[in-house]
Amino acid sequence: MSSTDTSIYLNENYGPVREEVTAFDLQVVGELPTELNGRYLRNGPNPLSDPDPATHHWFMGDGMVHGVRLREGRAEWYRNRYVGSTTLQRTRGLPEIPGRNWNDSPGGPNTNVGGFAGTTWAMVEAGGCPVELTYDLETVGRNDFHGTLPGAFTAHPKVDPDTGEMHAMVYAWPQWMDHVQYVVVGADGRVRRTVDLPLPGMTMLHDMSLTQRYAVVYDLPVTVDFDLAFAGRFPFRWNPGYGSRLGLLPREGAAEDTVWVDAPICYSYHPMNAYDVVGGPDDGKVIIDLCVYDRMFDSDILGPFGDGFARLERWTVDPVARTVSTVVIDDARSEFPRHRGSLTAKPYRYGYCASPSLDPTWPTFKYDLVTGEKQVFDHGPGRSAGEPVFVGRQGGTAEDDGWLITFVHDATDASAELVVIDAQDFARGYVAQVRLPQRVPYGFHGNWVSDRSVPEPA
Ligand SMILES: [Fe+2]
Repeated sequence: MSSTDTSIYLNENYGPVREEVTAFDLQVVGELPTELNGRYLRNGPNPLSDPDPATHHWFMGDGMVHGVRLREGRAEWYRNRYVGSTTLQRTRGLPEIPGRNWNDSPGGPNTNVGGFAGTTWAMVEAGGCPVELTYDLETVGRNDFHGTLPGAFTAHPKVDPDTGEMHAMVYAWPQWMDHVQYVVVGADGRVRRTVDLPLPGMTMLHDMSLTQRYAVVYDLPVTVDFDLAFAGRFPFRWNPGYGSRLGLLPREGAAEDTVWVDAPICYSYHPMNAYDVVGGPDDGKVIIDLCVYDRMFDSDILGPFGDGFARLERWTVDPVARTVSTVVIDDARSEFPRHRGSLTAKPYRYGYCASPSLDPTWPTFKYDLVTGEKQVFDHGPGRSAGEPVFVGRQGGTAEDDGWLITFVHDATDASAELVVIDAQDFARGYVAQVRLPQRVPYGFHGNWVSDRSVPEPA
C-alpha cells in the first residue's frame, strides 16, 4: 500500500521520550527578557507503547506537552507530561479521566496547547474533546467548554483580537461523514454559536482561516480512505479526484450563505494569516497566505514529509468571480507559519516559519510580505527549530517588535533548548538559550501563555 517500508516518524528526534521530567532553575545562556512571565508550551505526539514502524503514522502518537516556565529573567522549570486520555489511564491501570467523552475517543489531544479564557487547553482535530491542564501541566480532565460544545473541536482555533472570541472549523471522524461545523466560543469560554456546513465528502480539515467578514473552510483533497480505516490505519489519503474548494462562510451567516470557490489541487495544513481587502481595485477580495504541498499522503501514508515539502504562497480569493489566484512567495520549505496574534484576521506585514526537512538542520524564516524580503535565522548545522511563536514586547508599536520563541533540537548530542530570538534583529543571534534536561521530540504546535492570560495559582 505504501512505497515507504517503515516509518521515519519514529527515528531520531521523531522518537518518543520515556520519562516525565520535572526540572527547576534551568541554565540560561544570554539574558531572558524580564517581561516574559508565563509559560511556553508545546504539544506533540509521543507514543506510549512501541508502535509497528511499518504502519505507525506520526499524527497518531499519544499527546505530550513540554513546557518551560519563565519569570523575571529566570527559567524556573521544565516539565513534560502526557495529556490525559483513556489510553493513558488504561496503560497505567488508572481510572478514566473526568469529563464527557462525546465520541468515546480513546486518545488525547496531541496537536496544540495554549491559554484561553483563563485556562490551559490541549487540543486536537477529528473529534477529540479538548483537555484542560493545570498550570503545572497535569490533566484536569476533558472540558467541552463547560458543557456547551456539542461535539468535535480542532487544534487550530483562531482568536479574534478585537472580541476575544475563538473561532473553529471542526470535523469528526467517523461520526460526521457529511458535514463540518463552525464553532464560535465566547471570551467566557462557552460556545455561543455553531453552524453545520454540508460537504460532499470527509476531508481532513486541519485548520481554517478567519477574516473580518468570513470563516474560511478548506475542503481539500485529502479524504477518508476506507481501506486504511478498516485496517485500523490512519484513515486519510490523497484523493485529487475529490477536487479542491474554499468555502467563505460569512461570520454571522447561515450555511447556505457560504461562497464556494474552486481552489488549486493541493493540500495545506496551515495558513499564516488571512484578511479582507478594503478599498482599491481588489476591494472585497480575501488574501490568504499559506503553506502549500503539491500532494499529501500519496506515496507516504505515514506522515507529511515523504511526498515533498510545503512552500509559502499568497492566494487572492475573489468571492464575486469565484476565483483564486496564487503567487509563490517563497519556494523554500516552509511550515508552522505564525504571525503577530493581535493582527489575526487583519492586514499584516510580517510572518514567521519553520523550515522542516529530512535532515536535522531547520532554520527559522521571517518574511516581510510588503517588500518581499526574507531573513533567515541559522541555528547551526544539525540544529532544528520548530514553530516560531511571536510574543510582542510590552508597549512596542512596530509589528515585529518582540521575540520569537521555539524549541531547538541539536542532533549532534540529542539535546534541546528553548531559544528566544529578537524578531527585529536576527543578526544579533540568540537573546537567550534555556538548556533543557532532556531531548524534546519533533512536535506540532505551541504557544506562549502569559501569566496575565492564565495566572499561576497562588
Ligand atoms: Fe497543525
